[in-house]
Amino acid sequence: MIEKTSEKKEQERVVKPQASEEERLDLTLRPKTLRDYIGQEKNKEHLKILLEAAKKRKQPIEHVLLYGPPGLGKTTLAFVLANETGVQIKMTSGPAIERAGDLASLLTNLQNNDILFIDEIHRLPKVVEEILYPAMEDFAFDIVLGKGPGARSVRLDLPRFTIIGATTRIGLLSGPLRDRFGVTVRLDFYGEEEIEKIVTRSAKILDIGMESLAGQEIAKRARKTPRIANRLLRRVRDFAEVRSNGKITNELARQALDMLEVDALGLDRNDRSILLALIEKFQGGPVGINTLAAATSEEEQTIADIYEPYLMRLGFLDRTPKGRVATALAYEHLGIAQQKSQMNTLI
Ligand SMILES: Nc1ncnc2c1ncn2[C@@H]1O[C@H](COP(=O)(O)OP(=O)(O)O)[C@@H](O)[C@H]1O
Ligand SMILES: [Mg+2]
Repeated sequence: MIEKTSEKKEQERVVKPQASEEERLDLTLRPKTLRDYIGQEKNKEHLKILLEAAKKRKQPIEHVLLYGPPGLGKTTLAFVLANETGVQIKMTSGPAIERAGDLASLLTNLQNNDILFIDEIHRLPKVVEEILYPAMEDFAFDIVLGKGPGARSVRLDLPRFTIIGATTRIGLLSGPLRDRFGVTVRLDFYGEEEIEKIVTRSAKILDIGMESLAGQEIAKRARKTPRIANRLLRRVRDFAEVRSNGKITNELARQALDMLEVDALGLDRNDRSILLALIEKFQGGPVGINTLAAATSEEEQTIADIYEPYLMRLGFLDRTPKGRVATALAYEHLGIAQQKSQMNTLI
């Protein structure tokens, strides 16, 4: 059997938190107003104040930094803010802005009050980052024309814009860049009832008949992540259309989710294989992430960014100074008895 690469495995997962190409293009389920944006109540309160304050001062909103795991609604929130303020939003990403000149042309093309949304802002090249933060502060930047002794510096005035940055890895942002954001919003995993509301809302928009228990079942397995909830809903709908008349009953939802190998807590085969490796090959840890990555044929970064946040959220895995550790809850979920000697490592 040919071993699949980490990236390939990740793309095929039903419960992967990143968007597929199709999902990126399909905007039908994306809420457009704060009212429709479900959950994140505290964050929404803060943002409402930010919107009010800007409106009172007749100024664009302050620069906003959104961070948190993929699929929780960062891009959606950026578009909601644009919609709520009635300004234009242009979208780009860290890796797409290669040179200072790319940034200059993006910024000079904005109208007053417009939003520039920079996704994956932690991947902005250093040279670009260094001209971005003075621009965020002064709405101007200096460019050097020519070379050598004849070179001169010209100050370019920019419109009053707002930057909304999004990142899954806030730790990789430099201090000065982070400081230029007036507001930092940390998105966290959703509560089960919130996810259930999202599933119900989506079913309504997509005109899918669904029993409320089925909605609960999908929500339970959606890893507290809106994007995954919507994806599971679509896959369950496909199943219901093929097996029955398209209505999602509780029984059909269960069968579909079992077939997709998403267990009662939303774990799939990949998550289980990481936990199993930790337990069976390394006696539950602690083990270094590089060793764990090698043992599971995953990339270190995929483990750290994609698998671990949810496993930690469930309390199945701990990051300790000595390495990764499987917790008693993980043993319990997998139905594996824990040896006394292993329990000591957990304290
Ligand atoms: N708070 C929310 N309420 C309802 N749907 C949401 C919410 N947040 C995200 N979604 C849905 O989940 C999908 C993924 O959100 P997105 O903003 O693309 O996540 P991120 O940018 O954080 O990866 C969106 O297309 C939207 O349909
Ligand atoms: Mg996004």
